[in-house]
Amino acid sequence: MARRAIVAANWKMNGDLALVDTMVSGLLSIELQENVNVVICPSSPYLSAFAVKSKVDELNAAISIGAQNVSEHKSGAFTGEISTQMLQELSVEFVIIGHSERRSYYKETSTQIAHKVSAALNAGLTPILCIGESEAERATEQTKTVLSSQLQPVIDEVGIEKFIDVVIAYEPVWAIGTGKTASSEMAQETHQFIRHFLAQANEIVAVKVPLLYGGSVNASNCEELFAQADIDGGLIGGASLQVEQFKIICSAAKGK
Ligand code: PGA
Repeated sequence: MARRAIVAANWKMNGDLALVDTMVSGLLSIELQENVNVVICPSSPYLSAFAVKSKVDELNAAISIGAQNVSEHKSGAFTGEISTQMLQELSVEFVIIGHSERRSYYKETSTQIAHKVSAALNAGLTPILCIGESEAERATEQTKTVLSSQLQPVIDEVGIEKFIDVVIAYEPVWAIGTGKTASSEMAQETHQFIRHFLAQANEIVAVKVPLLYGGSVNASNCEELFAQADIDGGLIGGASLQVEQFKIICSAAKGK
């Protein structure tokens, strides 16, 4: 099997300690297919509680914890920021980097995002690098240009060989939280483009990188999306706050 599948829950600024409890309890009975990892990314204040509860309850080792952001700096006077080392102390293994909400509301640039991916990799954390075009960019046929311009600075900074430890999440901005999902054909076509783009730099690495789809994935559309040749799971926002729905999504994923 060439590639593992990953289903990552992006809670964003939602959830509470009660959700940490019900999610860990719910995941105790989850049935995952072969070669699948589940990553729960709660808000930072709940990372510790999630880590403790999953350890006490002896949660399946295929289920990991992720953060939603990380600083590109090691330490110092960066009020409000969280370092890679802090995340590691909390048993965090994955980190979402470059989510479109970070790019648009907090003005994160592709260069800064490349620094963050580099910091994460150097610390042994797996980055979930988010890329995606806006509705206007898709309408004016700029999708491929936008995705290339989001990927290239990261490839330039860390080197394509390091992408063996990177997960990419393709999230069309117009599909995030809107209920508008890309059709499975449209998502597959874009994922295929991303894999080809990586393959131009290194074919062996390109085959191994899990490419997740994100944007209004739910229990009804996940199966069709995950069945596509280049879709290796999903980054799930709204539907990851509902334990039963999230479990259905996780169970639909399968390594390829
Ligand atoms: P959504 O969010 O599933 O609510 O559309 C996905 C994301 O932003 O990661």
